[in-house]
Amino acid sequence: MMEKQKPLILIIDDEEALRDGCRQALQKSGYTVLTAGEGVEGVKIARERKPEIAFIDLKMPGMSGMEIIEILSKDVPDIVLIMITGYATILSAVEAIQKGAYDYLPKPFNPDQLRTVARRGLDHRNLKIETRRLRAEKERMEKSFITFVSHEMRSPLVVIRQYIESLKAIAGDRFGKDVTDIIERCNKRIQGLEELIEHWLDLSKIENGTFVQKKETLKLSHITARIVEEMVPVCMAKGISLLTEVPENVRDIVGDEEGLVRVFTNIIGNATKYTPEGGTITISARNDDSYVTVSISDTGSGIPHDKLPFIFEPFFRVKGKDEQHRGSGLGLTFCKKIVESHGGEINASSKEGEGSTFIMKFPVHSSPAEASQAPS
Ligand SMILES: Nc1ncnc2c1ncn2[C@@H]1O[C@H](COP(=O)(O)OP(=O)(O)OP(=O)(O)O)[C@@H](O)[C@H]1O
Ligand SMILES: [Mg+2]
Repeated sequence: MMEKQKPLILIIDDEEALRDGCRQALQKSGYTVLTAGEGVEGVKIARERKPEIAFIDLKMPGMSGMEIIEILSKDVPDIVLIMITGYATILSAVEAIQKGAYDYLPKPFNPDQLRTVARRGLDHRNLKIETRRLRAEKERMEKSFITFVSHEMRSPLVVIRQYIESLKAIAGDRFGKDVTDIIERCNKRIQGLEELIEHWLDLSKIENGTFVQKKETLKLSHITARIVEEMVPVCMAKGISLLTEVPENVRDIVGDEEGLVRVFTNIIGNATKYTPEGGTITISARNDDSYVTVSISDTGSGIPHDKLPFIFEPFFRVKGKDEQHRGSGLGLTFCKKIVESHGGEINASSKEGEGSTFIMKFPVHSSPAEASQAPS
């Protein structure tokens, strides 16, 4: 087994007696000690040997302790800087900490006090490194978890769906409605599960920054035309009218076309679920100097007042109502994240029995330079 390396401590102090005293006390506790009598030499040693801890005298001729702290906190990763001072004023302590020091040791001190501060500094450093390692590990696991889900769960679902399709074909008209109904219900549940996985994967991708979004200047009338094309068949099948009131001259928005199309189709998809036959869904848009506002309203069942604050929460669904409408409760969470990633906001208002309106506000970008600084 490899021998564990002794922690390296650097003492930068112009008093020789103090350097020697510290060296003896720390070596006794198993540390390797380097010393420097002034700042320039101390910085050079620290850069080359990268000690775990540096004790730095605040008041020295030449380079001051404060300057050394400032340089080393930038140049030597994870170094724990502790200032030694004869006159620890609150002000100097605050300044040193602002510049990157972790702790201070007031003079005079005895070997035990020195060792306690060294131990504490080392614990702090180990904790910091461990936290960073765990955070990186967590990120790595989250990313591989997404891959795991997409491969291990989606593929069997695809296979099951193919089996169900085959079953339907085989059944043909040989079986009664009771059997075909069950097959159809299986099909719907599988579809729901597939949608849940898709939504959930997208959300994790947004959260860990792997959901790729473009930043383009987009014409709203072009986007709404695409949405209408996509949603008209669903609305027609349900006997719902889909109206658009989007003026040609409404200001452009900057963002990701595919993401926004999904936001709008999700909201309209919800509206089609909760609007009875004969109802209307209206997409409208307007702008002022700061925002382009897009509203999607329906004449459906509405959302109870006390449930409205929660509809953008993951997995939230209004229970007991229209149980035949299945869903994951992630659709609006996805919409909110995407709208917010465009620097915008989304809100809903609703009156039970009369309908709901979803309002999205996107910032107006007047110049391409401003657009490139938009939050991503
Ligand atoms: N236009 C609407 N009218 C009435 N209720 C709505 C409307 N839009 C959303 N809701 C309510 O808000 C809940 C959350 O919507 P969300 O889109 O997040 O989930 P979902 O549609 O149930 O499932 P998913 O979209 O993930 O398949 C819905 O379950 C529904 O109860
Ligand atoms: Mg939905």
